[in-house]
Amino acid sequence: MLSLSLLPLPFSSLSFLPFFTASQEPISFHLIQISSFVNSTWIQYHGSGWVDDLQIHGWNSVADTAIFLKPWSKGNFSDVEISDLVELFRVYTFAFIREMLLSSPKSKILDPFEIQGIAGCELHPGGAILSFLRGALGGLDFVSFRNSSCVPASEGGSRAQLVCALLRPYGDIFHIVKKLLYETCPRFLLGVLEAGKADLQRQVKPEAWLSSGPSPGPGRLLLVCHVSGFYPKPVWVMWMRGDQEQQGTQRGDFLPNGDGTWHLRATLDVAAGEAAGLACRVKHSSLGGQDLVLYWGVMVLCLVIALGLALWFWRHR
Ligand SMILES: *[C@@H]1O[C@H](CO)[C@@H](O)[C@H](O)[C@H]1NC(C)=O
Ligand SMILES: *[C@@H]1O[C@H](CO)[C@@H](O)[C@H](O)[C@H]1NC(C)=O
Ligand SMILES: *[C@@H]1O[C@H](CO)[C@@H](O)[C@H](O)[C@H]1NC(C)=O
Repeated sequence: MLSLSLLPLPFSSLSFLPFFTASQEPISFHLIQISSFVNSTWIQYHGSGWVDDLQIHGWNSVADTAIFLKPWSKGNFSDVEISDLVELFRVYTFAFIREMLLSSPKSKILDPFEIQGIAGCELHPGGAILSFLRGALGGLDFVSFRNSSCVPASEGGSRAQLVCALLRPYGDIFHIVKKLLYETCPRFLLGVLEAGKADLQRQVKPEAWLSSGPSPGPGRLLLVCHVSGFYPKPVWVMWMRGDQEQQGTQRGDFLPNGDGTWHLRATLDVAAGEAAGLACRVKHSSLGGQDLVLYWGVMVLCLVIALGLALWFWRHR
């Protein structure tokens, strides 16, 4: 991440901050914009606003306006300031890119392509706030904003240099961007952390269950540990034998549940004879040190008992 500035702020008056600054991880507010240029008349935009991995804003590209996904998505900004910002994004981020890239024959960008932009600021443990803005083209770093100007990335090649050159005459835009990054964003971040603290600091306990996945091969079992419905995102899931962490544990991707909580799977490929005695252990901040532990053997035992009972009832029908 490109660090642009460190703003020391007077924190003594902000009572909600210890929770965020005591954490070892920075917490950010950032906007993500993805513009897909299909051809000279067809452009699709996806805009969104995030506090870390929690989406709080969307962009309705038909009505060309922002969607506020949480009651606290406006932080402590007034409706007037919010609508000014929405207007700014409508004009600058969207129309500007379109004008720059499509009406300028100099840009020579004819193929379908995708621009991704990320801009925001993050609060670091200790209270410093860092701002950033980066643009990528087709997934590669393209340009960034540094010291009030456009800096082409080396991966961007001559196209990135060209785009920065096209932007150079628009000094007032850089002035606006600078104000948004270094002044508006830190103010918004602190306001939104305060307004959303009940949501952001909430703790939701995971549920966990075991299943077996498709067999990885003859005589082998794929043990699956599902952990679901937890918040916040950091979680530790491991297959264990006693105190021994099973290094073969494979963690899947974090999948979002509809309610803002997370789902994760941890799998282990074992010889069928070695599955008994294995357990899935889950650590999460909501559990207050009481890890969830699920034993594979117990589940198998329950299955055997259930099957045995079913058989007994069938025989004695
Ligand atoms: C641009 O792409 C859209 C969607 O694929 C298509 O409907 C439209 O006809 C295209 N326009 C031109 C000028 O190629
Ligand atoms: C930032 O820009 C100013 C004015 O354009 C210039 O004087 C200064 O040297 C630049 N600083 C860096 C670190 O590039
Ligand atoms: C919002 O909260 C931040 C941090 O507490 C503060 O600096 C700012 O003045 C408040 N109001 C507005 C309108 O930004």
